Amino acid sequence: MVPPVRSRAEDVRPLLEMAAIRKSFPGVMAISSATFDLYTGEIHALVGENGAGKSTLIKILTGVHQMDAGSIRLDERPVSFRRPVDAQQAGIATIYQEFTLVPALTVAANIFLGHEVTGNGLLDHRRENRLAAELLGRLGAEFDPDTCVSDLTVAQMQIVEIARALARDAGILVMDEPTAALAPQEVSHLFGVLKELSGRGMGTIFISHRLDEVMAMADRITVMRDGATITTRGVDDFTRTDLIEQMVGRPIEQEYPRNTASPGETGFEVRSLSGGTVRDISFTARRGEVLGLAGLMGAGRTEVARLIFGADRKASGEILLDGRRLDISSPRDAIRSGVCLLTEDRKAQGLVLKASAKDNFALANLASWSRLGWIHQRREQRRFADRTASLNIRLAHSDQPAEELSGGNQQKLLVARWLETNSEVILFDEPTRGIDVGAKYDMYLLIGELAAQGKVVIVISSELPELLGICDRILVMRRGQVAGEVCDASKGTQEEIMALAV
Ligand SMILES: Nc1ncnc2c1ncn2[C@@H]1O[C@H](COP(=O)(O)OP(=O)(O)OP(=O)(O)O)[C@@H](O)[C@H]1O
Ligand SMILES: [Mg+2]
Repeated sequence: MVPPVRSRAEDVRPLLEMAAIRKSFPGVMAISSATFDLYTGEIHALVGENGAGKSTLIKILTGVHQMDAGSIRLDERPVSFRRPVDAQQAGIATIYQEFTLVPALTVAANIFLGHEVTGNGLLDHRRENRLAAELLGRLGAEFDPDTCVSDLTVAQMQIVEIARALARDAGILVMDEPTAALAPQEVSHLFGVLKELSGRGMGTIFISHRLDEVMAMADRITVMRDGATITTRGVDDFTRTDLIEQMVGRPIEQEYPRNTASPGETGFEVRSLSGGTVRDISFTARRGEVLGLAGLMGAGRTEVARLIFGADRKASGEILLDGRRLDISSPRDAIRSGVCLLTEDRKAQGLVLKASAKDNFALANLASWSRLGWIHQRREQRRFADRTASLNIRLAHSDQPAEELSGGNQQKLLVARWLETNSEVILFDEPTRGIDVGAKYDMYLLIGELAAQGKVVIVISSELPELLGICDRILVMRRGQVAGEVCDASKGTQEEIMALAV
Protein backbone atom coordinates (compact mmCIF):
# COMPACT_ATOMS: atom_id res chain seq x y z
CA MET A 1 0.00 0.00 0.00
CA VAL A 2 1.21 3.54 -0.77
CA PRO A 3 2.22 5.40 2.37
CA PRO A 4 0.99 8.97 2.74
CA VAL A 5 2.91 11.62 0.85
CA ARG A 6 1.54 14.66 2.61
CA SER A 7 1.89 13.53 6.19
CA ARG A 8 2.85 16.45 8.39
CA ALA A 9 4.47 14.45 11.19
CA GLU A 10 8.24 14.18 11.27
CA ASP A 11 8.59 10.55 12.15
CA VAL A 12 6.20 8.69 9.85
CA ARG A 13 5.35 5.15 10.86
CA PRO A 14 2.29 2.93 10.58
CA LEU A 15 -0.12 3.34 13.48
CA LEU A 16 -2.71 0.91 12.23
CA GLU A 17 -2.91 -1.90 9.70
CA MET A 18 -6.17 -3.70 9.01
CA ALA A 19 -5.93 -6.55 6.51
CA ALA A 20 -8.36 -8.94 4.82
CA ILE A 21 -11.21 -7.99 7.13
CA ARG A 22 -14.46 -9.85 6.66
CA LYS A 23 -17.74 -9.42 8.48
CA SER A 24 -21.26 -10.62 7.87
CA PHE A 25 -24.51 -10.11 9.68
CA PRO A 26 -27.37 -12.56 9.33
CA GLY A 27 -28.31 -12.37 5.65
CA VAL A 28 -25.86 -9.54 4.80
CA MET A 29 -22.21 -9.63 3.84
CA ALA A 30 -21.31 -6.21 5.24
CA ILE A 31 -17.58 -6.48 4.51
CA SER A 32 -16.18 -9.07 2.15
CA SER A 33 -12.61 -7.89 2.03
CA ALA A 34 -11.21 -4.70 3.48
CA THR A 35 -7.66 -3.45 3.88
CA PHE A 36 -6.95 -0.15 5.54
CA ASP A 37 -3.95 1.46 7.17
CA LEU A 38 -3.10 4.69 8.90
CA TYR A 39 0.19 6.48 9.48
CA THR A 40 1.24 8.98 12.10
CA GLY A 41 0.23 12.51 11.23
CA GLU A 42 -2.06 11.40 8.49
CA ILE A 43 -5.69 12.20 7.72
CA HIS A 44 -6.98 9.15 5.89
CA ALA A 45 -10.49 9.50 4.45
CA LEU A 46 -12.78 6.55 4.00
CA VAL A 47 -15.46 7.10 1.38
CA GLY A 48 -18.09 5.02 -0.37
CA GLU A 49 -21.76 4.76 -1.08
CA ASN A 50 -24.35 4.21 1.62
CA GLY A 51 -24.09 0.68 2.86
CA ALA A 52 -20.57 0.19 1.45
CA GLY A 53 -19.35 -0.92 4.88
CA LYS A 54 -17.51 2.15 6.21
CA SER A 55 -19.16 2.34 9.61
CA THR A 56 -18.93 -1.42 10.00
CA LEU A 57 -15.19 -1.31 9.37
CA ILE A 58 -14.85 1.41 11.97
CA LYS A 59 -16.97 -0.52 14.45
CA ILE A 60 -14.69 -3.51 14.03
CA LEU A 61 -11.68 -1.33 14.74
CA THR A 62 -13.30 0.19 17.81
CA GLY A 63 -14.50 -3.05 19.37
CA VAL A 64 -18.22 -2.56 18.72
CA HIS A 65 -18.38 -5.51 16.29
CA GLN A 66 -16.17 -8.58 16.06
CA MET A 67 -14.70 -9.47 12.66
CA ASP A 68 -15.25 -12.93 11.14
CA ALA A 69 -11.78 -12.98 9.61
CA GLY A 70 -8.79 -10.69 9.12
CA SER A 71 -6.15 -9.03 11.23
CA ILE A 72 -5.62 -5.72 12.97
CA ARG A 73 -2.19 -4.44 13.98
CA LEU A 74 -1.70 -1.42 16.13
CA ASP A 75 1.81 0.01 16.38
CA GLU A 76 2.89 -3.12 14.53
CA ARG A 77 1.46 -5.49 17.16
CA PRO A 78 -1.60 -7.70 16.55
CA VAL A 79 -4.65 -6.68 18.54
CA SER A 80 -8.31 -7.54 18.74
CA PHE A 81 -10.79 -5.57 20.76
CA ARG A 82 -13.66 -7.37 22.44
CA ARG A 83 -15.27 -4.21 23.77
CA PRO A 84 -15.19 -0.48 22.91
CA VAL A 85 -13.36 0.27 26.15
CA ASP A 86 -10.46 -1.97 25.04
CA ALA A 87 -10.04 0.12 21.92
CA GLN A 88 -10.20 3.33 23.93
CA GLN A 89 -7.50 2.09 26.25
CA ALA A 90 -5.34 1.29 23.25
CA GLY A 91 -5.52 4.95 22.24
CA ILE A 92 -8.33 4.94 19.68
CA ALA A 93 -10.82 7.75 20.22
CA THR A 94 -14.03 7.60 18.25
CA ILE A 95 -16.33 10.53 17.76
CA TYR A 96 -19.74 9.38 16.67
CA GLN A 97 -22.48 11.58 15.40
CA GLU A 98 -24.46 10.88 18.50
CA PHE A 99 -22.30 12.32 21.20
CA THR A 100 -21.43 10.41 24.31
CA LEU A 101 -21.17 13.45 26.57
CA VAL A 102 -23.22 13.79 29.73
CA PRO A 103 -25.33 16.93 29.17
CA ALA A 104 -25.84 17.72 32.86
CA LEU A 105 -22.11 17.83 33.64
CA THR A 106 -19.63 20.60 32.96
CA VAL A 107 -17.23 20.56 30.05
CA ALA A 108 -14.28 19.80 32.35
CA ALA A 109 -16.10 16.95 34.09
CA ASN A 110 -16.91 15.44 30.71
CA ILE A 111 -13.36 15.74 29.45
CA PHE A 112 -12.05 13.82 32.45
CA LEU A 113 -15.00 11.49 32.91
CA GLY A 114 -13.72 8.01 33.74
CA HIS A 115 -10.15 9.14 34.36
CA GLU A 116 -10.61 11.94 36.84
CA VAL A 117 -7.73 14.08 37.99
CA THR A 118 -7.02 13.39 41.63
CA GLY A 119 -4.71 14.80 44.25
CA ASN A 120 -4.24 12.97 47.58
CA GLY A 121 -6.93 10.53 46.43
CA LEU A 122 -9.47 13.35 46.12
CA LEU A 123 -11.01 14.77 42.99
CA ASP A 124 -9.04 17.86 42.07
CA HIS A 125 -11.58 20.13 40.37
CA ARG A 126 -9.25 23.08 40.19
CA ARG A 127 -6.62 21.11 38.34
CA GLU A 128 -9.22 19.51 36.10
CA ASN A 129 -10.50 22.93 35.18
CA ARG A 130 -7.02 24.23 34.51
CA LEU A 131 -6.04 21.26 32.33
CA ALA A 132 -9.38 21.44 30.53
CA ALA A 133 -8.88 25.15 29.87
CA GLU A 134 -5.45 24.36 28.42
CA LEU A 135 -6.81 21.70 26.10
CA LEU A 136 -9.72 23.88 25.02
CA GLY A 137 -7.31 26.73 24.39
CA ARG A 138 -5.27 24.52 22.11
CA LEU A 139 -8.42 23.68 20.21
CA GLY A 140 -9.37 27.33 19.85
CA ALA A 141 -12.56 26.92 21.87
CA GLU A 142 -14.32 30.03 23.08
CA PHE A 143 -16.17 28.58 26.05
CA ASP A 144 -15.16 27.90 29.65
CA PRO A 145 -14.48 24.48 31.15
CA ASP A 146 -17.21 25.05 33.74
CA THR A 147 -19.93 25.56 31.11
CA CYS A 148 -22.65 22.95 31.30
CA VAL A 149 -22.51 20.70 28.21
CA SER A 150 -26.25 21.10 27.64
CA ASP A 151 -25.59 24.79 26.86
CA LEU A 152 -23.18 24.03 24.02
CA THR A 153 -23.79 23.90 20.28
CA VAL A 154 -23.17 20.71 18.33
CA ALA A 155 -19.85 22.07 17.05
CA GLN A 156 -18.74 22.93 20.59
CA MET A 157 -19.67 19.46 21.82
CA GLN A 158 -17.53 18.00 19.09
CA ILE A 159 -14.60 20.07 20.32
CA VAL A 160 -15.22 18.74 23.85
CA GLU A 161 -15.14 15.19 22.45
CA ILE A 162 -11.80 15.95 20.79
CA ALA A 163 -10.49 17.50 24.02
CA ARG A 164 -11.48 14.31 25.80
CA ALA A 165 -9.55 12.26 23.23
CA LEU A 166 -6.49 14.44 23.79
CA ALA A 167 -6.81 14.16 27.57
CA ARG A 168 -6.66 10.40 27.14
CA ASP A 169 -3.63 10.71 24.94
CA ALA A 170 -5.30 9.01 22.01
CA GLY A 171 -3.06 8.44 19.00
CA ILE A 172 -5.88 7.67 16.59
CA LEU A 173 -8.95 9.79 16.11
CA VAL A 174 -11.92 8.33 14.26
CA MET A 175 -14.64 10.64 12.98
CA ASP A 176 -17.70 9.24 11.25
CA GLU A 177 -19.34 12.10 9.31
CA PRO A 178 -18.22 14.83 11.71
CA THR A 179 -19.30 17.78 9.60
CA ALA A 180 -22.85 16.76 8.80
CA ALA A 181 -24.36 19.03 11.42
CA LEU A 182 -21.87 21.91 11.31
CA ALA A 183 -22.08 25.36 9.74
CA PRO A 184 -19.37 26.31 7.21
CA GLN A 185 -17.35 28.42 9.67
CA GLU A 186 -17.52 25.61 12.24
CA VAL A 187 -16.30 23.13 9.64
CA SER A 188 -13.27 25.27 8.89
CA HIS A 189 -12.51 25.57 12.59
CA LEU A 190 -12.71 21.79 12.99
CA PHE A 191 -10.43 21.31 10.00
CA GLY A 192 -7.91 23.73 11.46
CA VAL A 193 -7.93 21.69 14.66
CA LEU A 194 -7.49 18.41 12.79
CA LYS A 195 -4.56 19.74 10.77
CA GLU A 196 -2.92 20.96 13.93
CA LEU A 197 -3.34 17.59 15.60
CA SER A 198 -1.88 15.78 12.60
CA GLY A 199 1.12 18.05 12.83
CA ARG A 200 1.67 16.54 16.26
CA GLY A 201 1.46 13.00 14.95
CA MET A 202 -2.19 12.14 15.50
CA GLY A 203 -3.62 9.80 12.87
CA THR A 204 -7.19 10.58 11.83
CA ILE A 205 -9.72 8.43 10.05
CA PHE A 206 -12.30 10.64 8.46
CA ILE A 207 -15.57 9.42 6.95
CA SER A 208 -17.59 11.89 4.95
CA HIS A 209 -19.98 12.12 2.04
CA ARG A 210 -18.88 15.68 1.32
CA LEU A 211 -16.29 15.08 -1.34
CA ASP A 212 -15.03 18.65 -1.48
CA GLU A 213 -14.12 18.38 2.20
CA VAL A 214 -12.50 15.02 1.65
CA MET A 215 -10.41 16.40 -1.21
CA ALA A 216 -9.40 19.42 0.86
CA MET A 217 -8.58 17.58 4.08
CA ALA A 218 -7.31 14.12 3.37
CA ASP A 219 -3.76 13.00 2.72
CA ARG A 220 -4.97 9.68 1.38
CA ILE A 221 -8.38 8.36 0.40
CA THR A 222 -9.63 4.79 0.54
CA VAL A 223 -12.73 3.99 -1.48
CA MET A 224 -15.07 1.22 -0.36
CA ARG A 225 -17.68 -0.30 -2.60
CA ASP A 226 -20.07 -3.16 -1.82
CA GLY A 227 -18.15 -4.27 1.26
CA ALA A 228 -14.66 -4.16 -0.23
CA THR A 229 -11.89 -1.58 -0.29
CA ILE A 230 -11.43 -0.78 -3.97
CA THR A 231 -8.43 1.55 -3.98
CA THR A 232 -6.20 3.62 -1.70
CA ARG A 233 -4.32 6.57 -3.17
CA GLY A 234 -2.84 9.89 -2.24
CA VAL A 235 -5.42 12.65 -2.62
CA ASP A 236 -3.48 14.19 -5.50
CA ASP A 237 -3.90 10.99 -7.47
CA PHE A 238 -7.67 11.42 -7.59
CA THR A 239 -9.71 13.87 -9.57
CA ARG A 240 -13.17 14.49 -8.24
CA THR A 241 -14.63 12.61 -11.19
CA ASP A 242 -12.32 9.64 -10.59
CA LEU A 243 -13.30 9.53 -6.99
CA ILE A 244 -17.01 9.52 -7.79
CA GLU A 245 -16.57 6.85 -10.42
CA GLN A 246 -14.64 4.64 -8.05
CA MET A 247 -17.37 5.03 -5.45
CA VAL A 248 -20.33 4.29 -7.67
CA GLY A 249 -18.54 1.86 -9.98
CA ARG A 250 -19.74 3.48 -13.19
CA PRO A 251 -19.03 6.67 -15.12
CA ILE A 252 -21.07 9.72 -14.08
CA GLU A 253 -21.80 12.31 -16.73
CA GLN A 254 -22.78 15.27 -14.63
CA GLU A 255 -23.12 15.70 -10.90
CA TYR A 256 -26.12 18.00 -10.85
CA PRO A 257 -28.96 17.28 -13.25
CA ARG A 258 -30.75 20.57 -13.82
CA ASN A 259 -34.52 20.85 -13.67
CA THR A 260 -35.83 20.57 -17.23
CA ALA A 261 -39.48 21.33 -16.39
CA SER A 262 -40.71 24.72 -17.50
CA PRO A 263 -42.20 26.46 -14.50
CA GLY A 264 -45.89 27.25 -14.80
CA GLU A 265 -48.27 29.36 -12.75
CA THR A 266 -47.51 30.67 -9.29
CA GLY A 267 -48.69 27.74 -7.23
CA PHE A 268 -47.52 28.54 -3.78
CA GLU A 269 -47.41 31.75 -1.89
CA VAL A 270 -46.24 32.76 1.56
CA ARG A 271 -47.36 36.19 2.80
CA SER A 272 -45.83 38.01 5.77
CA LEU A 273 -44.94 34.86 7.63
CA SER A 274 -43.58 35.42 11.14
CA GLY A 275 -42.88 33.20 14.12
CA GLY A 276 -39.86 32.35 16.26
CA THR A 277 -36.92 34.21 14.74
CA VAL A 278 -38.62 34.42 11.34
CA ARG A 279 -39.78 37.93 10.62
CA ASP A 280 -42.20 38.89 7.90
CA ILE A 281 -41.21 36.57 5.09
CA SER A 282 -43.03 36.65 1.77
CA PHE A 283 -42.27 34.70 -1.37
CA THR A 284 -43.90 32.82 -4.20
CA ALA A 285 -43.00 29.60 -5.96
CA ARG A 286 -44.29 28.38 -9.30
CA ARG A 287 -45.50 24.93 -10.09
CA GLY A 288 -42.70 23.04 -11.80
CA GLU A 289 -40.09 25.24 -10.20
CA VAL A 290 -37.31 24.11 -7.89
CA LEU A 291 -36.80 26.92 -5.40
CA GLY A 292 -33.73 26.92 -3.17
CA LEU A 293 -33.44 28.38 0.32
CA ALA A 294 -29.87 29.27 1.24
CA GLY A 295 -28.41 30.87 4.34
CA LEU A 296 -26.07 30.19 7.21
CA MET A 297 -27.02 27.94 10.05
CA GLY A 298 -29.42 29.85 12.28
CA ALA A 299 -30.63 32.09 9.46
CA GLY A 300 -34.10 30.64 9.84
CA ARG A 301 -34.40 28.33 6.84
CA THR A 302 -35.57 25.30 8.79
CA GLU A 303 -37.86 27.51 10.84
CA VAL A 304 -39.58 28.79 7.71
CA ALA A 305 -40.17 25.21 6.62
CA ARG A 306 -41.51 24.25 10.04
CA LEU A 307 -43.84 27.26 10.15
CA ILE A 308 -45.25 26.40 6.72
CA PHE A 309 -45.66 22.76 7.74
CA GLY A 310 -47.41 23.68 10.99
CA ALA A 311 -44.72 22.04 13.11
CA ASP A 312 -44.21 25.39 14.87
CA ARG A 313 -46.92 27.92 15.57
CA LYS A 314 -46.85 30.98 13.35
CA ALA A 315 -47.35 34.39 14.90
CA SER A 316 -48.83 35.74 11.68
CA GLY A 317 -48.91 35.15 7.97
CA GLU A 318 -50.82 33.41 5.22
CA ILE A 319 -50.02 30.40 3.11
CA LEU A 320 -51.75 29.95 -0.24
CA LEU A 321 -51.86 27.12 -2.75
CA ASP A 322 -53.25 27.98 -6.18
CA GLY A 323 -54.70 31.16 -4.72
CA ARG A 324 -56.55 29.35 -1.96
CA ARG A 325 -55.70 30.07 1.67
CA LEU A 326 -54.54 26.98 3.50
CA ASP A 327 -55.57 26.57 7.09
CA ILE A 328 -52.52 24.91 8.63
CA SER A 329 -51.97 24.74 12.35
CA SER A 330 -50.45 21.28 12.63
CA PRO A 331 -48.44 18.88 10.44
CA ARG A 332 -51.62 16.86 10.08
CA ASP A 333 -53.38 19.87 8.55
CA ALA A 334 -50.39 20.42 6.28
CA ILE A 335 -50.41 16.88 4.95
CA ARG A 336 -54.14 17.07 4.40
CA SER A 337 -53.63 20.33 2.46
CA GLY A 338 -50.96 18.73 0.27
CA VAL A 339 -47.88 20.19 1.94
CA CYS A 340 -45.12 17.92 3.21
CA LEU A 341 -41.76 18.46 4.83
CA LEU A 342 -38.82 16.10 4.67
CA THR A 343 -36.51 16.92 7.53
CA GLU A 344 -32.96 15.71 7.79
CA ASP A 345 -33.43 14.43 11.28
CA ARG A 346 -34.17 10.77 10.83
CA LYS A 347 -35.02 10.07 14.42
CA ALA A 348 -37.26 13.07 15.00
CA GLN A 349 -39.03 12.35 11.77
CA GLY A 350 -40.19 9.15 13.28
CA LEU A 351 -38.40 6.29 11.68
CA VAL A 352 -39.50 3.38 13.82
CA LEU A 353 -36.13 1.75 14.25
CA LYS A 354 -37.31 -1.66 15.39
CA ALA A 355 -39.97 -1.97 12.71
CA SER A 356 -39.22 -3.37 9.27
CA ALA A 357 -38.32 -1.15 6.34
CA LYS A 358 -41.61 -2.02 4.69
CA ASP A 359 -43.71 -1.18 7.73
CA ASN A 360 -41.90 2.12 8.06
CA PHE A 361 -42.74 2.83 4.44
CA ALA A 362 -46.41 1.99 4.96
CA LEU A 363 -46.73 4.24 7.98
CA ALA A 364 -47.38 7.44 6.03
CA ASN A 365 -50.36 6.08 4.27
CA LEU A 366 -52.14 3.61 6.45
CA ALA A 367 -55.28 5.69 6.25
CA SER A 368 -55.44 6.05 2.48
CA TRP A 369 -54.67 2.45 1.71
CA SER A 370 -56.94 0.80 4.16
CA ARG A 371 -60.49 0.26 3.14
CA LEU A 372 -62.79 -0.90 5.90
CA GLY A 373 -59.69 -1.21 8.03
CA TRP A 374 -58.03 -3.64 5.69
CA ILE A 375 -54.65 -2.76 4.27
CA HIS A 376 -54.11 -3.56 0.64
CA GLN A 377 -51.13 -5.77 1.24
CA ARG A 378 -50.35 -6.60 -2.35
CA ARG A 379 -50.56 -3.04 -3.54
CA GLU A 380 -48.40 -1.90 -0.65
CA GLN A 381 -45.81 -4.55 -1.43
CA ARG A 382 -45.71 -3.48 -5.07
CA ARG A 383 -45.35 0.22 -4.30
CA PHE A 384 -42.64 -0.57 -1.82
CA ALA A 385 -40.77 -2.61 -4.40
CA ASP A 386 -41.11 0.21 -6.97
CA ARG A 387 -39.87 2.86 -4.59
CA THR A 388 -36.94 0.87 -3.24
CA ALA A 389 -35.90 0.20 -6.82
CA SER A 390 -36.28 3.78 -8.06
CA LEU A 391 -34.47 5.25 -5.06
CA ASN A 392 -31.98 2.39 -5.03
CA ILE A 393 -32.59 1.59 -1.37
CA ARG A 394 -30.34 -1.28 -0.33
CA LEU A 395 -32.07 -3.88 1.78
CA ALA A 396 -31.29 -7.49 2.55
CA HIS A 397 -35.07 -8.11 2.43
CA SER A 398 -38.19 -6.02 2.93
CA ASP A 399 -38.61 -7.18 6.53
CA GLN A 400 -35.16 -5.93 7.56
CA PRO A 401 -35.51 -3.64 10.61
CA ALA A 402 -34.89 0.02 9.85
CA GLU A 403 -32.13 0.22 12.45
CA GLU A 404 -29.97 -2.19 10.48
CA LEU A 405 -29.94 0.00 7.38
CA SER A 406 -26.98 2.26 6.79
CA GLY A 407 -27.58 5.94 7.54
CA GLY A 408 -28.17 6.95 3.96
CA ASN A 409 -30.58 4.16 3.28
CA GLN A 410 -32.62 5.21 6.31
CA GLN A 411 -32.83 8.69 4.81
CA LYS A 412 -33.99 7.32 1.47
CA LEU A 413 -36.61 5.21 3.20
CA LEU A 414 -38.07 8.35 4.76
CA VAL A 415 -38.15 10.07 1.40
CA ALA A 416 -39.94 7.07 -0.07
CA ARG A 417 -42.48 7.24 2.69
CA TRP A 418 -43.28 10.90 2.18
CA LEU A 419 -43.52 10.57 -1.55
CA GLU A 420 -46.44 8.23 -0.97
CA THR A 421 -48.55 11.04 0.43
CA ASN A 422 -48.96 12.65 -3.01
CA SER A 423 -48.29 16.19 -1.87
CA GLU A 424 -48.44 19.27 -4.07
CA VAL A 425 -45.83 21.25 -2.17
CA ILE A 426 -42.73 19.42 -1.04
CA LEU A 427 -40.25 21.04 1.29
CA PHE A 428 -36.90 19.28 1.50
CA ASP A 429 -34.68 20.23 4.42
CA GLU A 430 -31.12 19.10 3.64
CA PRO A 431 -32.33 16.20 1.48
CA THR A 432 -28.88 14.84 0.72
CA ARG A 433 -27.25 15.11 4.11
CA GLY A 434 -25.45 11.89 4.92
CA ILE A 435 -26.23 10.25 1.63
CA ASP A 436 -23.68 9.17 -0.91
CA VAL A 437 -22.88 10.71 -4.22
CA GLY A 438 -24.81 8.15 -6.26
CA ALA A 439 -27.85 8.47 -4.02
CA LYS A 440 -27.57 12.26 -4.20
CA TYR A 441 -27.83 12.02 -7.93
CA ASP A 442 -30.91 9.81 -7.61
CA MET A 443 -32.40 12.35 -5.21
CA TYR A 444 -31.78 15.20 -7.67
CA LEU A 445 -33.47 13.25 -10.44
CA LEU A 446 -36.39 12.65 -8.14
CA ILE A 447 -36.62 16.34 -7.28
CA GLY A 448 -36.61 17.11 -11.00
CA GLU A 449 -39.30 14.51 -11.58
CA LEU A 450 -41.53 16.07 -8.92
CA ALA A 451 -41.09 19.45 -10.60
CA ALA A 452 -41.91 17.91 -13.97
CA GLN A 453 -45.15 16.62 -12.47
CA GLY A 454 -46.01 20.27 -11.77
CA LYS A 455 -45.39 20.18 -8.04
CA VAL A 456 -43.88 23.02 -6.05
CA VAL A 457 -40.47 21.96 -4.78
CA ILE A 458 -38.55 23.92 -2.15
CA VAL A 459 -35.06 22.78 -1.20
CA ILE A 460 -33.10 23.92 1.84
CA SER A 461 -29.42 23.07 1.65
CA SER A 462 -26.12 24.15 3.14
CA GLU A 463 -24.27 22.84 0.13
CA LEU A 464 -24.16 25.75 -2.23
CA PRO A 465 -22.94 23.83 -5.29
CA GLU A 466 -25.97 21.62 -4.86
CA LEU A 467 -28.39 24.54 -4.71
CA LEU A 468 -26.76 26.26 -7.66
CA GLY A 469 -26.78 22.98 -9.56
CA ILE A 470 -30.35 21.85 -9.16
CA CYS A 471 -32.48 24.94 -8.41
CA ASP A 472 -34.09 27.40 -10.78
CA ARG A 473 -34.08 30.24 -8.28
CA ILE A 474 -32.56 30.70 -4.81
CA LEU A 475 -33.75 32.82 -1.89
CA VAL A 476 -31.01 33.74 0.55
CA MET A 477 -31.97 34.17 4.19
CA ARG A 478 -30.21 36.14 6.87
CA ARG A 479 -31.35 36.58 10.47
CA GLY A 480 -34.90 35.45 9.92
CA GLN A 481 -35.49 37.50 6.80
CA VAL A 482 -35.05 37.15 3.07
CA ALA A 483 -31.83 39.02 2.33
CA GLY A 484 -31.93 38.59 -1.41
CA GLU A 485 -32.54 36.38 -4.35
CA VAL A 486 -30.54 34.68 -7.08
CA CYS A 487 -33.05 34.84 -9.93
CA ASP A 488 -31.26 32.48 -12.26
CA ALA A 489 -29.42 29.86 -10.25
CA SER A 490 -27.69 28.49 -13.34
CA LYS A 491 -25.77 31.78 -13.56
CA GLY A 492 -25.31 32.33 -9.81
CA THR A 493 -22.12 31.86 -7.85
CA GLN A 494 -21.31 30.73 -4.31
CA GLU A 495 -19.76 34.13 -3.64
CA GLU A 496 -22.98 35.86 -4.59
CA ILE A 497 -24.96 33.73 -2.13
CA MET A 498 -22.40 34.15 0.66
CA ALA A 499 -22.38 37.91 0.20
CA LEU A 500 -26.14 37.96 0.80
CA ALA A 501 -25.98 35.48 3.66
CA VAL A 502 -23.44 37.19 5.95
N1 LIG B 1 -26.07 -4.50 13.03
C1 LIG B 1 -26.31 -4.84 11.77
N2 LIG B 1 -27.09 -5.91 11.45
C2 LIG B 1 -27.31 -6.25 10.17
N3 LIG B 1 -26.83 -5.60 9.10
C3 LIG B 1 -26.06 -4.54 9.33
C4 LIG B 1 -25.76 -4.10 10.66
N4 LIG B 1 -24.95 -3.01 10.58
C5 LIG B 1 -24.77 -2.78 9.26
N5 LIG B 1 -25.42 -3.69 8.50
C6 LIG B 1 -25.42 -3.79 7.03
O1 LIG B 1 -24.07 -3.79 6.59
C7 LIG B 1 -23.91 -3.02 5.40
C8 LIG B 1 -22.85 -1.95 5.62
O2 LIG B 1 -23.39 -0.94 6.46
P1 LIG B 1 -22.55 0.30 7.01
O3 LIG B 1 -23.37 0.94 8.07
O4 LIG B 1 -21.18 -0.16 7.37
O5 LIG B 1 -22.48 1.23 5.72
P2 LIG B 1 -21.82 2.68 5.56
O6 LIG B 1 -20.79 2.56 4.50
O7 LIG B 1 -21.39 3.21 6.86
O8 LIG B 1 -23.04 3.52 4.97
P3 LIG B 1 -23.52 5.08 5.24
O9 LIG B 1 -22.72 5.92 4.32
O10 LIG B 1 -24.97 5.07 4.78
O11 LIG B 1 -23.36 5.38 6.68
C9 LIG B 1 -25.29 -2.49 5.05
O12 LIG B 1 -25.87 -3.36 4.11
C10 LIG B 1 -26.04 -2.56 6.37
O13 LIG B 1 -27.42 -2.74 6.16
MG1 LIG C 1 -22.08 4.86 8.10
